[in-house]
Amino acid sequence: MEKIKLAHTDLEVSRISAGCMGLGGGWEMNTQLTSEHEKQASDFIDAALQENINFFDTANIYARGRSEEVFGRVLAKRPGLREQIVIQSKCGIRWQDDPAGAPQRFDFSERHILDAVDASLKRLHTEYMDILLLHRPDVLWEGEEIARAFESLKKSGKVRYFGVSNQNRFQMEYLQSFLPDPLVANQLQMSLLHSGFAEVGISFNQNSPHYPDGWEGVLEYCRLKGVSLQAWSPLDRGVLLGEDLSKLPENRRKAAELLRQYARVRGVSTDAVALAWLLRHPARIVPVIGTAKPERIASAAKAVKFELSREEWYSLFEAARGLSMP
Ligand SMILES: NC(=O)c1ccc[n+]([C@@H]2O[C@H](COP(=O)([O-])OP(=O)(O)OC[C@H]3O[C@@H](n4cnc5c(N)ncnc54)[C@H](OP(=O)(O)O)[C@@H]3O)[C@@H](O)[C@H]2O)c1
Repeated sequence: MEKIKLAHTDLEVSRISAGCMGLGGGWEMNTQLTSEHEKQASDFIDAALQENINFFDTANIYARGRSEEVFGRVLAKRPGLREQIVIQSKCGIRWQDDPAGAPQRFDFSERHILDAVDASLKRLHTEYMDILLLHRPDVLWEGEEIARAFESLKKSGKVRYFGVSNQNRFQMEYLQSFLPDPLVANQLQMSLLHSGFAEVGISFNQNSPHYPDGWEGVLEYCRLKGVSLQAWSPLDRGVLLGEDLSKLPENRRKAAELLRQYARVRGVSTDAVALAWLLRHPARIVPVIGTAKPERIASAAKAVKFELSREEWYSLFEAARGLSMP
């Protein structure tokens, strides 16, 4: 798989990133990591590397820390692996009862960012994170505090580059105004069924009920500033990919049928076509896939081997939104 150089960095990352949310045994509180979990993580990493996917996306909260931990166990056992891969993690979401009695909340305080990164690095068995993303906007954030945390993490070598997730254009601009270095990424939900990034470009000035709040200028800002766009849940968690389409509403069924049609012509699976739809966008969106199954990583990776035509792209878009172009 082709790699791209991330603007403002010396990182070369694969066009598709492997998301680690499925590692570590799920979201339950008291699950213990077993050798099975470790094998799953190891096979997942191998399957990604096999496809030349070197870009791994995780977060301190995935599987309540166990996703990073199990990934770290594999790293600890395989010297040399760390240098072959790019690790991106996230902080800023805090669980209820952390500490006891506290509500679930967002926390971009200097203290939390610094502590969260230390804990992530320990779990991951690594000295450094390539990219740290702020996971979900904290309403109570202060640009100065975040800037101090980033400066300290950069100085100590614990984090090389910084980015955000789930932020709109103005949040990015606000944060950037405090930082000496450019933000390198924004990770957002983008897919056939979450197509606000595309919808905003066509439904403006149309008095359209589809006009997606919050997406104004996000793509253009990122493209102008060299902020890499990453798509989370790029396959809509498999909604359009199943065998049985009968339960899908009409427009979704049409989109799923088109995915099948385009897949058949190319001899690939439907997940590859759904990813190709994102990859076709000239902003060079990096889909972050969520499966941990080696065979699905292999089928998804085929998405980089072909390009959808403009006609196919718009046909899928139209079917998924359930409305013709204005
Ligand atoms: N920044 C954020 O706020 C945020 C939020 C959510 C996720 N993320 C990141 O994005 C990554 C991907 O998110 P996601 O897991 O929601 O993405 P996704 O790739 O859209 O969904 C993964 C789900 O789809 C299923 N799936 C994949 N291929 C399939 C196929 N061919 N047929 C049927 N089902 C299929 C998988 O099942 P199997 O597991 O059975 O293969 C899995 O349950 C995460 O790992 C995480 O790194 C970030």
